Amino acid sequence: MRLEGKVAIVTGGARHIGAVYAKRLAAEGARVVIADILDGDGVAREIGAGRGAAIALRVDVSKEEDTLRMADETLKRFGRIDILVNNAAIFLSIRRRSFDQISAEEWDQVSSVNIKGPFLCAKAVFPQMKKQRSGKIINISSTTALAGTPLFLHYVASKAALIGMTRALAREMGEYGICVNAIAPGLVQHEGQTAPKEFTEFQLKARAIKRLETPEDLAGTLIYLASSDSDFVTGQTIVVDGGSILH
Ligand SMILES: NC(=O)c1ccc[n+]([C@@H]2O[C@H](COP(=O)([O-])OP(=O)(O)OC[C@H]3O[C@@H](n4cnc5c(N)ncnc54)[C@H](O)[C@@H]3O)[C@@H](O)[C@H]2O)c1
Repeated sequence: MRLEGKVAIVTGGARHIGAVYAKRLAAEGARVVIADILDGDGVAREIGAGRGAAIALRVDVSKEEDTLRMADETLKRFGRIDILVNNAAIFLSIRRRSFDQISAEEWDQVSSVNIKGPFLCAKAVFPQMKKQRSGKIINISSTTALAGTPLFLHYVASKAALIGMTRALAREMGEYGICVNAIAPGLVQHEGQTAPKEFTEFQLKARAIKRLETPEDLAGTLIYLASSDSDFVTGQTIVVDGGSILH
């Protein structure tokens, strides 16, 4: 129960990796807000059926009115905001293709959710975290940004932007006791993952630890960055990929 009394918002927490983050934060004692364009009630109910507390909000992170409502509703329901996990992204729906086949519209859609979304969410929670003089913002990047993975340039560029945003926000928010860090997962296996077999095999070969990565592999690093154990760590990107990217 390292997060007893804390309140966490997990964007994109209605399914897959985000749902695992929400459940692990709750298991550590945090009250959790699941903010997603999808219905997160199922995950919230699952948390509530245990000893945890959670609510689900319909939020499109690319819309400022939604992110402001997310912060307002969180405060109304739970009274504080300690942790923001910027996990929502356009990812699974992306079809891999060469950069010159990506339309300008699709580029804008990915940027607006994957880059503007985390910016708007950070902006929405900032006044409360500043008032509390504490907070943890955890941006979910990707090893694709460090590896330069081909065939989805808009996604890779968006995840690289999060690393820069993490560093600059850490410097802007440090004086208020707010830590901003990023996690860069490798290819994570879950029921929605549709990466081609050759790609999965390639990832496996490149890893020091030769097994598939699961959402649970990310949870320990997330809890560390969300807890007071990491109070003097900020602006960092932690790669969690079984030792494929070493930086
Ligand atoms: N699965 C992987 O291999 C992998 C690897 C590296 C990084 N990641 C990152 O981890 C995170 C979760 O990935 P996932 O595999 O669980 O994918 P996912 O598509 O299941 O999760 C994304 C979540 O974000 C939500 N979302 C999408 N657009 C939104 C919007 N505009 N507003 C609010 N919510 C929105 C989706 O509904 C979904 O619940 C993403 O940031 C992804 O880029 C995933």
